[in-house]
Amino acid sequence: MLLIDEAKIVAEADGLAARGATVNEVLTLLRGKLSLDAFGLLLIGLPRADLPALSKLLPRMASDETQRNFTGNSGEILLGQTVSFVRALAYNYAALRNCSLSGARIMDYGCGYGRITRMLYYFANPEAIWAVDPWDLAVSLCRDAGMLGNIAQSDYLPASLPAPEAAFDVMFAFSVFTHTSRNATDAALSALRRHIAPNGLLAITIRPEEYWAVNPEYAPQAAAYQAKHAAEGFAFAPHGRDTVEGEATYGDTSMTLDFLAANYPDWRIEGADWALVDPYQRYVFLTPA
Ligand SMILES: C[S@@+](CC[C@H](N)C(=O)[O-])C[C@H]1O[C@@H](n2cnc3c(N)ncnc32)[C@H](O)[C@@H]1O
Repeated sequence: MLLIDEAKIVAEADGLAARGATVNEVLTLLRGKLSLDAFGLLLIGLPRADLPALSKLLPRMASDETQRNFTGNSGEILLGQTVSFVRALAYNYAALRNCSLSGARIMDYGCGYGRITRMLYYFANPEAIWAVDPWDLAVSLCRDAGMLGNIAQSDYLPASLPAPEAAFDVMFAFSVFTHTSRNATDAALSALRRHIAPNGLLAITIRPEEYWAVNPEYAPQAAAYQAKHAAEGFAFAPHGRDTVEGEATYGDTSMTLDFLAANYPDWRIEGADWALVDPYQRYVFLTPA
């Protein structure tokens, strides 16, 4: 729930929008006066009948069902996880680059319905933000919700992405490399490398070995997947759908930092992090080597 002072700022932003302010003017007001969490609460509640002008300018939130289908959670619980990652991204970018996310050119790769993309409006104007996903449903959900900025569909096994090359200060893929096959992982990391700026930072999430034991779906085979993870540094269980040219590119994936370091020499691991809200999504920060 927004505090009374925050609700007043939101009402002021609605008034500004009603008087014809641009979305960037409205975002400047909201960013300056709301915390990241309050901004997120506002966005997950849109559209709202009492905020008609703001509801026209800013995207409509996905349904609870869509949120759960993409992430397993919804509403404020999911927002807590989203904000936790976004804070870690901002903190690590500041720590590693001595730079704020404000005004950065950012790509959300494997954006889904735009859960995390929405939070980026807190830092950068929409024209600097790219939301990319290979799934036509994800891209349609973003477009139909009125997501701002650049929305583009990529390939499941991309050679490059539909976005400018060598251009992005920050790229991230949350809960994407936790699902991709070896070939899809190789293709995506190589494609992302083409688009990162020379001093850019890529944040990905990976699953640790423990994942196989904590997901009850894998209880019977957990030991086998853990053994593969330990021996090869990479374990993948295909979901059996989402095949590309006969190959399953999507499932559940775990990998080690050593595997990343050994197999992707055009990236260098600069840092790692995780958050209590989901210890099985480990954040890895990569820089172009
Ligand atoms: C679990 S969802 C996460 C969505 C979003 N990143 C989030 O955290 O809300 C995984 C996303 O990865 C996308 N995806 C599937 N295969 C992919 C691939 N080969 N490359 C990039 N993204 C992929 C899916 O379409 C889906 O939107």
